[in-house]
Amino acid sequence: MQLSEARVVLTGASGGIGLAIAEALCKQGAQVLAVSRHEEPLLPLLAHYPDLLHWVEADLCTPEGRKHVATSAQAIPGVNLLINAAGINQFAMLEQLPASDIDSMLTINLHAPILLIRLMLPLLKQAQSAMVVNVGSTYGSIGYAGYATYCASKFALRGFSEALRRELADTRVGVLYVAPRATRTAMNSPAAQALNDALNSNVDDPQHVAKAVLHAIAGDRRELYLGWPERFFVGLNSILPTLVDRGLRKHLPLIRLLSNTSLEEKNKL
Ligand SMILES: NC(=O)c1ccc[n+]([C@@H]2O[C@H](COP(=O)([O-])OP(=O)(O)OC[C@H]3O[C@@H](n4cnc5c(N)ncnc54)[C@H](OP(=O)(O)O)[C@@H]3O)[C@@H](O)[C@H]2O)c1
Repeated sequence: MQLSEARVVLTGASGGIGLAIAEALCKQGAQVLAVSRHEEPLLPLLAHYPDLLHWVEADLCTPEGRKHVATSAQAIPGVNLLINAAGINQFAMLEQLPASDIDSMLTINLHAPILLIRLMLPLLKQAQSAMVVNVGSTYGSIGYAGYATYCASKFALRGFSEALRRELADTRVGVLYVAPRATRTAMNSPAAQALNDALNSNVDDPQHVAKAVLHAIAGDRRELYLGWPERFFVGLNSILPTLVDRGLRKHLPLIRLLSNTSLEEKNKL
């Protein structure tokens, strides 16, 4: 897809990765409808690109919010790109995670993109060439302790993306599944960052992720997995999962300790 001709609906636009994608798209001359509940993080970009960037306030967990996005998208002639980047994460062992947090994670990470895509497909199908981009995670391919529900949502999003790509194979709408590794954004709590630091995990800048996502869109790719050795571990986990089991088992005491800190941090807020 030619990025200068992209007419984009972008969810998660006020977040670390979404904001970087919005900026990179505007730099290429794309028109972007930025979806989020908060406008403040977008204000400088809205001022810089008044003709290209527009904000739509919507809570994607609600049917009204999703309908509002789809209706607003109809106002942009030739919408051809839907990027689902909204998401939430909570680092905690399952038994300590409140049921409401489990519901929220599954709703925003999985139900919302599926239902928004369903609403937007008739519009996307009208374009000469269109694409749906679903932002998953390395944790959509590797189950990780402390992130069981988040992993469930991203594994499901990956499976959904594959099935939808096959379902749309005889249309002009492609599906790209993107799996970033850890990225420096507000999504990661201090405890989650402490775990990344302790395990020496690589952490990307959101601008790096945005650049890779735009490159994948421009190249009409179907999948994008960011980072090495993360790509290697994704492959290893699919062929020799017991090796990964053993490796991760060693980290369990640390994960347990830090996930408790994570809950204490949350309770203080
Ligand atoms: N950061 C990482 O380490 C990492 C790694 C791999 C994958 N990812 C994935 O990358 C995507 C973006 O993550 P990020 O790091 O940029 O997160 P972030 O900085 O925390 O941003 C999250 C975004 O989701 C939006 N959002 C959350 N709940 C919403 C709701 N109910 N309705 C509408 N929008 C909602 C937020 O907007 P408002 O709060 O303004 O509504 C915000 O724009 C997510 O899907 C995440 O799972 C992140």
